[in-house]
Amino acid sequence: MKDLSPRPGELDPIETASVDEIRALQLDRMKWSLRHAYENVPMYRARFEATGVHPDDLKDLADLARFPFTQKDDLRANYPFGMFAVPREQIVRVHASSGTTGKPTVVGYTAKDIDTWATVMARSLRASGLRAGDIVHNAYGYGLFTGGLGAHYGIEKLGAMVVPMSGGQTEKQISLITDFAPKGILVTPSYMLNILEAYRAAGRDPRETSLQVGVFGAEPWTNALRREVEEAFDMHAVDIYGLSEIIGPGVANECVETKDGLHIWEDHFYPEVIDQETGEVLDDGQEGELVFTTLTKEGMPMIRYRTRDLTRLHAGSARSMRRMDKITGRSDDMIILRGVNVFPTQIEEQVLATEGLAPHFQIELVKDGPMDAMRVLVEADQGGADVGPALRKRIKDVVGVSTDVVVGAPGSVARSQGKAVRVIDKRGG
Ligand code: DLL
Repeated sequence: MKDLSPRPGELDPIETASVDEIRALQLDRMKWSLRHAYENVPMYRARFEATGVHPDDLKDLADLARFPFTQKDDLRANYPFGMFAVPREQIVRVHASSGTTGKPTVVGYTAKDIDTWATVMARSLRASGLRAGDIVHNAYGYGLFTGGLGAHYGIEKLGAMVVPMSGGQTEKQISLITDFAPKGILVTPSYMLNILEAYRAAGRDPRETSLQVGVFGAEPWTNALRREVEEAFDMHAVDIYGLSEIIGPGVANECVETKDGLHIWEDHFYPEVIDQETGEVLDDGQEGELVFTTLTKEGMPMIRYRTRDLTRLHAGSARSMRRMDKITGRSDDMIILRGVNVFPTQIEEQVLATEGLAPHFQIELVKDGPMDAMRVLVEADQGGADVGPALRKRIKDVVGVSTDVVVGAPGSVARSQGKAVRVIDKRGG
């Protein structure tokens, strides 16, 4: 793999600022953001008043803990535009997430927000090893999902050339990668596996592509999958994180030279990790739920937004801004099986560690009498040996739960074109 580390002078000045400088900037911006939310969004004013806090109460960053949380339901309750903090005419773009039940959640951006987003996204791509002048294949879905357009504007802001492919049409993805010879690809990790499969099915060697780096996010993925993809394509695989409510992709990104967690672009997004049960703020290094406060967002400021994503914060490394661990999973995706907590990422690790299995998998939750049970659907690699018992044993030994393993024919596990659906609940009622 090529060395894609940044050269001196290539970073934004804030990326090399001291921690003290970053904290001072955050405090100024946080005061502005709290006031902006309080003065312009009725929900925030009512919430702050009900909690007995006022933006003036924030004297230092730790005072943020006195302010109330915001949740996805608050966006639903204020559907569609009730969370906007500027007159509707100043909103130049909306995105929305479908949500499995009820109304979608809508997010809105001013022109300045779009520029901020492009800036943090460009910074993320540079951290991934991309530069002005590069060709970048963008296979995140375009539309209401923030992935496609968010990445698109960042690629342009970086000064690179974007190929706005979007998701799907796997054959076409491959012919454009072959013909345009991009240096980078932006796509969900699960869809990258489909692209890999299509290369192999066509009898082509994926190591011969022009790709030097993949920027993968929008869903949890493990270091085991990183190794699999890096080896298969002979390219770097880096992790990008974000969520629509906070801005979209580009809230945090790994640095290609270290790959030791995702640096949060803390000049725009202030992170906390809390105990999910008590809401108490945890020290860096402790695992809990990630919470963000936007520091510069005009259109739709978010104060202490609970992401449901589980991780830990750490001091900076390649950049001075803090890092978060790869996300273990969302609290909503946690499966509790006979008292043991299981995340789909733990199953992914064991599928990838089992010889003879393709990297695709899905989990079904079923009833076994009165008890919940888990069935893992996987596929045999071309060889076809019976590897079900081996996977079953690994999951039992390492994850600590008994599961049914169903090894289907190649192609039997549903494929995704964007975010993979990992868990299917067949328990009924
Ligand atoms: O998925 C934004 C995005 C697009 C990020 C493209 C990266 C790349 P939402 O659709 O609002 O936004 O979903 C946000 O996806 O709360 C996480 O649960 C999950 N997620 C996003 N990135 C990662 C990641 C986009 N790198 C939700 N690792 C978040 C694990 C991720 N989970």
